[in-house]
Amino acid sequence: MKSSVIFLLLSVWFYPLLSQASSAAAELDKKVQSFLDQRKGTWLRGSIPESDGKLLFDIIKKNKYTRAVEIGTSTGYSSIWIAWALSKTGGKLITIEIDKGRQQTAVANFKEAGLSGYIDARLADAHELVYQLDGPFDFVFMDADISTDYVEATANKIVKGGVFITHGVRNETGDYANYLKCLQGFETDFNTGGGFCISIKKPK
Ligand SMILES: C[S@@+](CC[C@H](N)C(=O)[O-])C[C@H]1O[C@@H](n2cnc3c(N)ncnc32)[C@H](O)[C@@H]1O
Repeated sequence: MKSSVIFLLLSVWFYPLLSQASSAAAELDKKVQSFLDQRKGTWLRGSIPESDGKLLFDIIKKNKYTRAVEIGTSTGYSSIWIAWALSKTGGKLITIEIDKGRQQTAVANFKEAGLSGYIDARLADAHELVYQLDGPFDFVFMDADISTDYVEATANKIVKGGVFITHGVRNETGDYANYLKCLQGFETDFNTGGGFCISIKKPK
């Protein structure tokens, strides 16, 4: 009897909070979706395709990743998919872009999409900045110049079960791919069904 009264009181107290949170999430979904619909076909060449954006979104949501880094923001298309997923896991994205004009456009896009609160957008040369970032991370997405620097700088800061995802590895037998294949503590999948390869930090 006593416990059912407590349960009833807790439900009365929690229900408005839960329903407020879920209506805020639904509002955000609507805002992001309508932003993406409006901008369809207008993103700069080099932005990931929509199917890859959805894949990144699913990977983050499914694995409940929260600590994300992106190298190569451009005007923010991939960041928007990443940050949208992080809005559901309670996470945050640090995204790095070297080009001032692109970075400014990205910041404006994040605001318009309603996702600014989930993104820390940095204007910097990622070759330098990645070494200075404090981990840990569970999701790193690299979509700039193919360079082992980025892997080297983050691999030790990625938690077990976390990922380093590289976009645009065209040659599975090239130097970069071979580097990933030999990367200690990681296992790399080149056939992910998207335009990228995924290096996952092994649990042991
Ligand atoms: C292919 S685009 C990124 C596309 C973006 N991820 C998207 O899907 O919308 C690559 C971006 O990386 C940026 N970039 C290249 N080298 C960089 C560096 N060293 N540091 C930071 N950004 C860099 C370029 O300026 C360019 O905007």
